[in-house]
Amino acid sequence: MEKMNVKPATGKLGVLCVGLGAVTSTFMTGVLMARKGLAKPVGSMTQYDKMRVGRGENKKYLHYGEIVPLATLDDIVFGAWDVYPANAYESAVNAEVLQEKDILPVKEELEKIVPMKAAFDHNYASRLDGDNVKDCKNRWDMVEQLREDIRNFKAENNCDRIVVLWAASTEIYVPVEEKVHGTLAALEQAMKEDDKEHIAPSMCYAYAALSEGCPFIMGAPNTTVDIPAMWELAEKTKMPIAGKDFKTGQTLVKSGFAPIIGTRCLGLSGWFSTNILGNRDGLVLDEPANFRTKEVSKLSTLESILVPEDQPDLYTDYYHKVRINYYPPRNDSKEGWDNIDIFGWMGYPMQIKINFLCRDSILAAPLCLDLVLLSDLAARAGRFGIQRFLSFFLKSPMHDYTENEIPVNHLFQQYAILKNAIREMGGYEADQEID
Ligand SMILES: NC(=O)c1ccc[n+]([C@@H]2O[C@H](COP(=O)([O-])OP(=O)(O)OC[C@H]3O[C@@H](n4cnc5c(N)ncnc54)[C@H](O)[C@@H]3O)[C@@H](O)[C@H]2O)c1
Repeated sequence: MEKMNVKPATGKLGVLCVGLGAVTSTFMTGVLMARKGLAKPVGSMTQYDKMRVGRGENKKYLHYGEIVPLATLDDIVFGAWDVYPANAYESAVNAEVLQEKDILPVKEELEKIVPMKAAFDHNYASRLDGDNVKDCKNRWDMVEQLREDIRNFKAENNCDRIVVLWAASTEIYVPVEEKVHGTLAALEQAMKEDDKEHIAPSMCYAYAALSEGCPFIMGAPNTTVDIPAMWELAEKTKMPIAGKDFKTGQTLVKSGFAPIIGTRCLGLSGWFSTNILGNRDGLVLDEPANFRTKEVSKLSTLESILVPEDQPDLYTDYYHKVRINYYPPRNDSKEGWDNIDIFGWMGYPMQIKINFLCRDSILAAPLCLDLVLLSDLAARAGRFGIQRFLSFFLKSPMHDYTENEIPVNHLFQQYAILKNAIREMGGYEADQEID
């Protein structure tokens, strides 16, 4: 490492999860089990991936933690908020993602993770009816109470730093409203005036996190930090924000497979994606207003990979459809089907079918770990605002749409950006061009 300018990862890292459901209980159980040497953190880039640093004779392949100072699994202390009072052990059992044998060895530690009362508004997720909910005078009071939770958690657990991760249910779609979301002053005013229509509870979590000097990650497709007012707050507090929507199953496949079509200059006439899943996430997404948020996020993937303006013969007017259907028998074991109608030489049609029988939370847990560790790293490296290098992990990468910035969805370009950021933070030369 030549000229690294990153603060060391000393002391405890508090990981405060909004939502103690299937994803976060699987994430926590896996970390605690791995810490005891009883499970492997498979799928986590920060734990497994090796990347090149240096060139020519000086070239070597190192783990991320050998390039930059990352917090270790032993440094992590978990906390959470949830609408339901179940502790992390009960939640892991209820979620039915993991078998008892993979939960019981860390039962005691999980039982100690008891969710704080949620900042919640029933109108944003009408299918949830838990009562572990804060009583708030208005949205500003909601922020104040969350800030106090963060401060208390940090002090009680003797944490050096905190990262806040939203892995709670998807809220209803909140379109960007310039008048309210355009500036920080307008956002604060709306919170004080209790503008419930434009200020989602998730915005209160994000505001509280950034104000307390904590990076904030949006793992659902909510527009929470995807607004200029939050970018302004992140700049003011010098904190990283990342989002949105974990890129786990179908969209991971899509962002990795679409480049095959694009690279070979094949044409696309349609891409139909459908899913069935039966967990609580699926239940919430069965509500059209909540599904709308997910749909917007999932649809954005192809647009910047197979671009009609770049290749009008190949990608003009392709039909892209995404469906999610709630189907209880499958619980967390989601099944996704992709039907891809492509065309080749002289326009002759062909089809590709992909059937991914995945496990939602098993795919999401390592992303939680990587996003948390890399956001903490970004904060220590003095990076703030939108963390584009984390787009690799996200379905609908944040970008400055007010400047017409095009997000990068192409999986392998995202990987190059991720590696370059780590090289840079590690004091190595980044490869300048992303093709
Ligand atoms: N698993 C995946 O593959 C995947 C991929 C992308 C995004 N996500 C998103 O991650 C999120 C979590 O998924 P899950 O399967 O764990 O869902 P889940 O329903 O099991 O857990 C979500 C939890 O959030 C709680 N919650 C809702 N609103 C809250 C609030 N305002 N404050 C505190 N807690 C609140 C709910 O009570 C619930 O326990 C969802 O938004 C989902 O869309 C998951």
